[in-house]
Amino acid sequence: MSAAAGLPNPVRMPVPAQALAWLARPVPFLMGQAARHGDVFTMTLPQEGPWVVLSHPDAIREVFTGDPSRLLAGEGNEILSPLLGPRSVLLLDGPEHLRERRLLLPPFHGERMQRYGALMREVAEREIARWPTGTAFPLAPRMQAVTLEIILRAVFGLEQGAKLDALRAGLNDLLEFVSTPAAFTVVVSIGAERAVRIPAFRRRLEPVDRLILEEIRSRRGATDLEQREDILSLLLQARDEAGEPMGDDELRDELVTLLVAGHETTATALSWAVERLLRTPGAMERLRDDGPAYVQAVCHETLRLRPVIPLVLRRLTEPMTIAGHDLPAGVKVAPCVTLVHRRADLYPEPHVFRPERFLGVKPGTYTWIPFGGGVRRCLGAAFALFEMQAVLEAIAARTTLRPSSPEPEHTMRRTITFAPDRGASVVLAA
Ligand code: HEM
Repeated sequence: MSAAAGLPNPVRMPVPAQALAWLARPVPFLMGQAARHGDVFTMTLPQEGPWVVLSHPDAIREVFTGDPSRLLAGEGNEILSPLLGPRSVLLLDGPEHLRERRLLLPPFHGERMQRYGALMREVAEREIARWPTGTAFPLAPRMQAVTLEIILRAVFGLEQGAKLDALRAGLNDLLEFVSTPAAFTVVVSIGAERAVRIPAFRRRLEPVDRLILEEIRSRRGATDLEQREDILSLLLQARDEAGEPMGDDELRDELVTLLVAGHETTATALSWAVERLLRTPGAMERLRDDGPAYVQAVCHETLRLRPVIPLVLRRLTEPMTIAGHDLPAGVKVAPCVTLVHRRADLYPEPHVFRPERFLGVKPGTYTWIPFGGGVRRCLGAAFALFEMQAVLEAIAARTTLRPSSPEPEHTMRRTITFAPDRGASVVLAA
């Protein structure tokens, strides 16, 4: 009997064919199944078990407001544990997750983000000044360099100099190593616990850990800790409900988590923003001339039409009724970002990139979900949106770009993100 038997609207394809479609053409696959089955269907991937994919805002509300102890998210990220470490907020569930989240949230509060604006602009402008003119190049790696630098400086609080250079170089080497499809396959096949002992991985991880731990220890002793604005300095002063500070290893795990969760995601969103803007007549000019409300609308519309993460997952620990369907324990439900964002009843002409639809409109909690929701909603959402705005403003003010080919770019799966397949290839006018 198939794993999806008894679950709502099973996809009518053999499991290997579903896996192939999900890997090679994820967006047409999701759209096709939604067209056939409506708001709920069940897909199955090898070694994953069934996912009940949800695309109605009411069903999504049920999941995001449901009891977190019955809807687990952390265990699904186990594959990241060799890199993130056991205390990472991404890997935990239940009370341990809530403790970490409460400690991490205050520094990421929306209003605080203004303080990073000048730094974000400076990093973007320095990067733009290095771009070649008159020749095609992919923006995605440039955006990665920008977002890595911004996290290292705003989150870790590093100033320019030898320490920053050493950590940047070590991290680039480590992230490049773990992002290869080969590394992914190794972790999946031998398991995270054994993967962490692979010598080639340890050789790259250990110097990075050493640098981060040195920074944490020296910052603990800093005399100006209370005046500092960076996120590490704020976290060093945070206390949990029992009045306890975060330990060195715990801080290390959370810093690496913020870096891994925040660096490629934001870079990909920025690449998509430029890819769409350059193919929408007049949009770059408006971005340059219209002021912050339009820039914000561009960010909202980019994350609607080209969400970086296509769905989020929760595993049921007990039977639950969701969207009127009785689901057994063990099944995973998947609020689907891609599908909610393409509903014509919510977004007229959903396939058209039209920032104006968000002008003067606050995105809905259960209808605009690029950052997931509930107690797992992205901790860096305000940071990412603020960063996107700062970098896009710098690009609009300082460059005249055109796409290297008029053909739109298609969605391609990178390690954790859905990215433009040519890396947002552009040409900069001299
Ligand atoms: C455009 C950029 C970004 C996108 C699209 C994005 C998206 C997401 C999504 C979909 C989740 C899972 C939510 C869920 O399961 O409901 C998540 C979680 C998370 N994100 Fe982001 N993210 C972005 C940028 C960032 C940044 C800049 C940071 C930090 C500096 C960050 C830190 C985190 C953390 C720590 C979590 C785990 C939260 C938890 O488990 O409680 N993200 N993000």
